[in-house]
Amino acid sequence: MSESINRSRDLLIWGASGHALVVADAVRCGGRLNIAGFIDDVNPGRAGEDFGGSRILGGRDVIMNLRASGVMWAFAAVGDNAARVELGQVLRDAGFRLPVIVHPRAVVADGVVLGDGTYVAAGCVICPEAHIGRSVIVNTAATVDHHCLIGEGAHVAPGAHLAGWVSVGEQALIGVGASVRDRIRIGARAVIGAGAAVVTDIPAGTTACGVPARVREDQ
Ligand SMILES: CC(C)(COP(=O)(O)OP(=O)(O)OC[C@H]1O[C@@H](n2cnc3c(N)ncnc32)[C@H](O)[C@@H]1OP(=O)(O)O)[C@@H](O)C(=O)NCCC(=O)NCCS
Repeated sequence: MSESINRSRDLLIWGASGHALVVADAVRCGGRLNIAGFIDDVNPGRAGEDFGGSRILGGRDVIMNLRASGVMWAFAAVGDNAARVELGQVLRDAGFRLPVIVHPRAVVADGVVLGDGTYVAAGCVICPEAHIGRSVIVNTAATVDHHCLIGEGAHVAPGAHLAGWVSVGEQALIGVGASVRDRIRIGARAVIGAGAAVVTDIPAGTTACGVPARVREDQ
């Protein structure tokens, strides 16, 4: 008699770099999903390589077969914001479900909304009434205070801090260690430099650095 394999807890991770490693670690610590393997669509030569306690299964060409074999969950674990949003949609269109991955040592208040495909790293604190969109990264030890709105595909980098009522537009990057004053609005695809202190609104698509943060003059 043939044994059927239950793959309903198997997770495919798209990405095979440092960010994928930390996402995989959070998955293992959470204990809810099993890592079926990783996708590297950039370096075809890595197919079959051991990686992150599992294996690189190939590029995007193997995704449909994995779905057909019963793998139900998939997650885009790449740092580039635009790519993460795009790959997340490719996975949804292929019929996968995208989990929310929250490291068990993150603190997330009751009732906080987290969109699918979003990753919350170890040491983060997310406060009440925050609303975090899809495919967001809230990275190591970042904090997102009450009533913040984080748009799809944004990245709050390690050690960044958002005070209450801050809004962050789609695919914006809040750089490592940056601090954002309460009620500030940061536009879509804006980049906040490492270590910045943001005390004024930042327009979409601009880069702002420094203490206090200023939009770069070449923009
Ligand atoms: C702001 C940033 C995007 C600029 O990158 P860039 O366009 O490649 O800029 P460069 O490194 O060429 O630097 C250009 C100038 O800006 C300065 N600069 C760069 N980053 C800065 C920062 N965060 N704060 C203040 N000044 C900064 C440089 O010293 C340089 O000054 P100079 O022209 O007087 O020498 C980048 O430095 C940064 O901070 N990115 C955040 C990255 C991050 O946190 N990623 C998270 C990974 S998990």
